[in-house]
Amino acid sequence: MDDLQHDYPWTKNPLVIGAPMRLIALAALATEISKAGGLGFIGAGSDTANLQSILEEVKRSIADAPNLKNVKDVLPVGVGFICWAGQKLLKEALPSIEKYRPAAVWLFAPREHEDLVRWSEEVRRVTQGKTKIWIQVGTVENAVEVTKSCQPDVLVVQGQDAGGHGLHKAAGIIALLPEVDDTITALCKTETIKKPALVAAGGIMDGRGAAAALTLGASGLVLGTRYLASPEANIAEGYRQAVVEATDGGQMTERTKLYDQLRGTTDWPDEYGGRGVLNESHTDAGKGMTFEENKRLYDEAMKTGDEGWGKNARLTTYAGTGVGLVREVKGAAAITEEMREDAKTILRSTSSKL
Ligand SMILES: Cc1cc2nc3c(=O)[nH]c(=O)nc-3n(C[C@H](O)[C@H](O)[C@H](O)COP(=O)(O)O)c2cc1C
Repeated sequence: MDDLQHDYPWTKNPLVIGAPMRLIALAALATEISKAGGLGFIGAGSDTANLQSILEEVKRSIADAPNLKNVKDVLPVGVGFICWAGQKLLKEALPSIEKYRPAAVWLFAPREHEDLVRWSEEVRRVTQGKTKIWIQVGTVENAVEVTKSCQPDVLVVQGQDAGGHGLHKAAGIIALLPEVDDTITALCKTETIKKPALVAAGGIMDGRGAAAALTLGASGLVLGTRYLASPEANIAEGYRQAVVEATDGGQMTERTKLYDQLRGTTDWPDEYGGRGVLNESHTDAGKGMTFEENKRLYDEAMKTGDEGWGKNARLTTYAGTGVGLVREVKGAAAITEEMREDAKTILRSTSSKL
C-alpha cells in the first residue's frame, strides 16, 4: 500500500483526483468522485463565504455511501484554496478546516512564499496532522522551494496544458514531472526530508493520458477539464456544451489575462494566466477592440444565458488543451471509474507488447 492509499483508505489505485475548480467543484462533484474511489476536491478559491455549508452538504451526502460512511478521522474530500488571498483567507478558513477536517487542503498561487509555510503549519496544527497538505507547483524551482520549506504530503505538478489558471511560462507534464521527480528525490535524500507524493495535472482526459502520467512517475491523476463535462460540475449548460464542442486545444485554447480582465478577477499574481477556449471576446481584442467595448459586450452576453458560450460567443470558458478529447457529458463517478480502469488496461496491454 502506498502513502496515498494509506492516507485516503477509501480510494482505489491508481488514484483519480478531482481538481478544486473554484465555484465549479462543489459538494456534488467532489463527493461523487470520492464515492467512486477517487479523491474529490472542493474549489473554495479565494473566499470562504459558502465553505461551511458546502462541507455540511458533503457530510450529508456521504452518510449512506458504502465506501465513505465509515471514514471517521477526516471528511473524505479535500478543499482547494487560492493563496494570493493571503493570511486573511487562512484566518477565515481555519475554523472550518478544524471543524470538518477535510482529507487534504490544496494550496495554490501564493503572493508570498511565506504564506504557504504559514498555511501548512496552521492546518497541521488545528487538525493534528490529519488534514494533509497538497501544494500545486508549476516549475522545478518551485517544487524544491516548497518541499524544503513546507514538507508537503503531496506536490501537484501542473503542466502547461492545464485548464484554468497556471503559469504563463511552463512545461508540459511529460518533461516537468520526471525532472521534478529526480530533483525532489535527490533533495529529500540529502536533506533527509520525507519525499512528497507527486500527482500530475494538465492534459489528462482519458486512460491514455492517465497511463502516460503514471509511467512518468505520478502517484495520482488530477482531472479538471474532463470533469467540466459532468452533470455534477456547477456550470451553465452552455459552458458544458462549449467544452464538449471545442477541438484541437493547442489552437483553440490560450493562457491569457484577457478572460480575468473581462470577469473582473484581476487579483492573480502577474506570472499566472487562465487557459480558456478562444471566442469572440478574444478575436475582437486581437483586432484592436477597446477593452471598454469588449467588457460592455461581455456584460451583455452575461444576460443571454446558455447562448453566451461557445467559439462564436463571448463568455469565458476556462478549459485545458485536452478539450478535444472531451466528447460527451458523463457522470463524475463514471469518469472516475473509467479513467482508473482504462489506465490499468492500457498499461497492461502496452507492457505485454514489449
Ligand atoms: C475551470 C477550471 C477552474 C480551475 N480552478 C482552479 C482553482 O480554483 N484552484 C486551483 O488550484 N486550480 C484550479 N484549476 C486548475 C486545476 O487545479 C488543474 O491544475 C487543471 O484543471 C488540470 O488540467 P486539466 O484541466 O487539463 O485537467 C482550474 C481548472 C479549470 C479547468
